[in-house]
Amino acid sequence: MGLISATEMLKKAKVGKYAVGQFNINNLEWTKSVLLTAQELNSPVILGVSEGAAKYMTGYKTVTAMVKAMVEELKITVPVALHLDHGSYEGAKAAIEAGFSSIMFDGSHYSIEEKIEKTKELTELCHSLGISIEAEVGSIGGEEDGVVGTGEVADPNECKMIADLGIDFLAAGIGNIHGKYPDNWTGLDFDALDAIQQKTGDMPLVLHGGTGIPEDMIKKAISLGVSKINVNTECQLYFQEATRKYIEEGKDLVGKGFDPRKLLAPGSAAIQECVKEKMELFGSVNKA
Ligand code: 13P
Repeated sequence: MGLISATEMLKKAKVGKYAVGQFNINNLEWTKSVLLTAQELNSPVILGVSEGAAKYMTGYKTVTAMVKAMVEELKITVPVALHLDHGSYEGAKAAIEAGFSSIMFDGSHYSIEEKIEKTKELTELCHSLGISIEAEVGSIGGEEDGVVGTGEVADPNECKMIADLGIDFLAAGIGNIHGKYPDNWTGLDFDALDAIQQKTGDMPLVLHGGTGIPEDMIKKAISLGVSKINVNTECQLYFQEATRKYIEEGKDLVGKGFDPRKLLAPGSAAIQECVKEKMELFGSVNKA
C-alpha cells in the first residue's frame, strides 16, 4: 500500500476509542524503525515531519521519495500517512506538491481572519487531492529560549468554528506542551477537552506533546475523543540514551564498532521500543 491520507484511520480510531500515533522522523533510521514497528504490531501509523526536519533531510521531495520507497521495499502493508507537522502556509503547499498525504496547517501566527481564510483554501486544495488536513486551536507551547510555557487551553467555540471549516482533525490545546513537562505542570485540562468534544462531535481530536504525559492521562484523553497523539521528543531521548550507552561502553572502539550501521543500531532499536510502548498504550495494535 502506498501513502494514504489520515482521515479514514482517524475516523476509525475515534469510533473504536483508540489513538493512532504520529511519530516524527529525522532520518532513514528513524523512518525504518517506525515503519518496522507499525508492521510488526499491525498498527496504522502517521509519520510526522516538521519543516525543520524536512529541511534537515534536504527537502520534502527527498522525504516523500524515501518514505514511499521504504514502504515498498520493506513490504509495509499497514496504513501509513506522511504528515507535515506544524506547517506554515508556504510549507504546506510545498509538502502537498512533493506528495505528502496529510498536512497540519499551523495558523497560530496569523490573525483569526487570515487563519480562517488560509485554512479554507488549504482544506479545499487538500481535499481535491485526497490529502487530509489538521488545524490547531490554542497554540501548543513548549520550551523556547529556556522558558517553558504551560500550554494554552483552547476555547471550545473557536474549536467548533475551525472544525466547521471542513478540516479532518483538530489539535486543541488543553495544557499540553512540546518537549519535557516542567515539574510544576498541572496536567491536561479534561474539562476543556470534554467541552471541546461536545462542541465538535465526530471530529477526531489531536493531542500534541505526547512525550511524558502519564499513562492514565493518555487513556482518559482517548476516552474523551483524542484519536491522534504526537510523539517526538521521547523517541529522541530513547535514541540518545542507547547511543550514549554504546559509546560509554567503548563499543565503538572494538573491531568495526565505528561502522555507522553498528553505531546507530542500538539507538534504532530503542526507537522501535519507544514506538512499541506508545502503540500499546494508545491501543492501535492490530487496528491496521
Ligand atoms: P513531543 O516532542 O513533546 O513528543 O511533541 C511532539 C509533537 O507534538 C509534534 O507535533
